[in-house]
Amino acid sequence: MRRSGLFLVLVWCGTSAGTVAGEEATYVGVKKCKTCHIKVYQTWKETKHALAFDKLSEQEKQDAKCTECHTTGKDVNFPGIQCEACHAPGSKFTSATIMNKKKYSADPEGQRKMALEAGLIIARMRRTASSATMSAVPTTRVLISRRATRR
Ligand code: HEC
Ligand code: HEC
Ligand code: HEC
Repeated sequence: MRRSGLFLVLVWCGTSAGTVAGEEATYVGVKKCKTCHIKVYQTWKETKHALAFDKLSEQEKQDAKCTECHTTGKDVNFPGIQCEACHAPGSKFTSATIMNKKKYSADPEGQRKMALEAGLIIARMRRTASSATMSAVPTTRVLISRRATRR
């Protein structure tokens, strides 16, 4: 656990290197992503990732030992393994100038570059990784982030 924590810190330094100086991006929650990504949302909401918080008992939902992994950003306001657990906190990359349908279809590469600079993580998961590895959020995030920083 300690080790992956350390990795996460290193990875975050790596991914934020390209972002504009200033405040760190924060989580906006799946409701925001849903407004534009309705199809992805509908697929996601049936997954174990989406239901990870609901599966906990009322007592466990208040136990930091459980919410640490069963929420996004360790925040019970963002229950389950939401979009941003894998794609990184979205306050910056979801801005109207970046995730904009018109702009994206006119210049997908340019918009993607901006999104990545604003912290978005997109990387193919390793096919060989076990489903258990994929579910382990901290690990998944490190895997994805490492990939992203290697691009
Ligand atoms: C205002 C609308 C809007 C919101 C809100 C939004 N997106 Fe997007 N997003 C887009 C558009 C438009 C694209 C361009 C590609 C497409 O149409 O899927 C995109 C692309 C993406 C991509 C692919 C990027 C690429 O270049 O391949 C990811 C990943 C993504 N969004 C994740 C998210 C996540 C996570 C959230 C919530 C934190 C979010 N989006 C919120 C509109 C939005
Ligand atoms: C270090 C991260 C981590 C912590 C801390 C953690 N979990 Fe989990 N939990 C997971 C992962 C990853 C899975 C899915 C993979 C698996 O089943 O092993 C999971 C699965 C579960 C499931 C099965 C969910 C399903 O969809 O069937 C339950 C129930 C659960 N955890 C309860 C708890 C409780 C209760 C606590 C607190 C005492 C807790 N977990 C703490 C990572 C964690
Ligand atoms: C468990 C991790 C994980 C979660 C949770 C997750 N994604 Fe993704 N997402 C990925 C990976 C991995 C890819 C593949 C990237 C690639 O193709 O390189 C991807 C691809 C995408 C894409 C681009 C390709 C496509 O299918 O259109 C969009 C948009 C996207 N995700 C949005 C979302 C949204 C919105 C949510 C929440 C409703 C979400 N993701 C939840 C890991 C995740």
